[in-house]
Amino acid sequence: MTSTLRRAADAQLELLDLHPAAADMRQLVIDGLRQEPKQLPAWFLYDAEGSRLFDQICEQPEYTLTKTETALLQAQATAMAAALGEGTLVEFGAGSARKVSPLLEALPNPAYVALDISSEHLADACRRLHQRHPQVPMVGICCDYSQLQQLPAHPLLEQQRRLGFFPGSSLGNFPQDEARALLRQFRHLLGPGSKLLIGIDQPKTVDRLEAAYNDAAGISERFALNLLHRLNRELGADFQVEQFQYRARWLAEASHIEMALISQRQQQVTLCGEIWSFAAGEALITETSHKYAPEAFLALAAEAGWQSEARWSDGADDLCLHLLKQAD
Ligand SMILES: C[S@@+](CC[C@H](N)C(=O)[O-])C[C@H]1O[C@@H](n2cnc3c(N)ncnc32)[C@H](O)[C@@H]1O
Repeated sequence: MTSTLRRAADAQLELLDLHPAAADMRQLVIDGLRQEPKQLPAWFLYDAEGSRLFDQICEQPEYTLTKTETALLQAQATAMAAALGEGTLVEFGAGSARKVSPLLEALPNPAYVALDISSEHLADACRRLHQRHPQVPMVGICCDYSQLQQLPAHPLLEQQRRLGFFPGSSLGNFPQDEARALLRQFRHLLGPGSKLLIGIDQPKTVDRLEAAYNDAAGISERFALNLLHRLNRELGADFQVEQFQYRARWLAEASHIEMALISQRQQQVTLCGEIWSFAAGEALITETSHKYAPEAFLALAAEAGWQSEARWSDGADDLCLHLLKQAD
């Protein structure tokens, strides 16, 4: 891991770079391609272009999650802030950090720490957010939050209680075992007395679920294919991108959407000094998105040492924002 601290022009905003080193990325790719079926960690989707495309996905009419969650946060920010209490808001996977403003406006004396793997995008997001909330001290930390042993030593993280914020139903991008482990990890990173406000997308009709990840404008497809461009550019792979086709489907038994790139013919790809065979029709899974009914999610959270304190749902029961506190 590299670690540099870039102090922005204004002392109220700092950026810290703990992005995994290229060697670690190579090892993760090798491990993922050795799996059956082949699957890479979802965060590989998020280079600068991937983050830009994700923002476009959020604007597509079929992808309602962002609009629903943003509206719920705006409508309930006062109640959420009252239940959260005073502390430093730590957002995991902040992306463009477009959802946090209502909370920063409603919380007493807020400070804000944004964690994300996509470094340039995170820096831009923090600068924009800082312009909007110049009085709020902020730090952006580029890292893989699932691998952090500790949050870095920083006054914003040490002077007051830590309040986790994990919107976007990003927990669903982790297989259930890893999701449970991640919730435990957040408990450890946030420390005693912490709380976690987490957005969880709920199961819906198959048509709605599949449409959300197969937008008519084809942005989800470009987002997935960008992964192959990234591997070609950053790790010297030779994927023929046009020989892979995007597929997103709902797997009811697993309660998740599976997003994959399907090899259009028998082919070989050189990557990380090895030759990898793809059979015709073979999938490279780029991401899954697990959907949890509230009770199923709370059972998982309980196994990770969290208990429910409150929850807010949109009128259509599409999505729930759960406030969790550490179990006694
Ligand atoms: C589904 S997007 C959600 C973005 C934003 N939180 C929202 O609600 O719209 C997931 C975000 O988490 C980041 N991310 C994914 N996996 C990550 C990881 N392991 N560590 C740090 N950031 C990660 C991505 O770069 C991306 O910005």
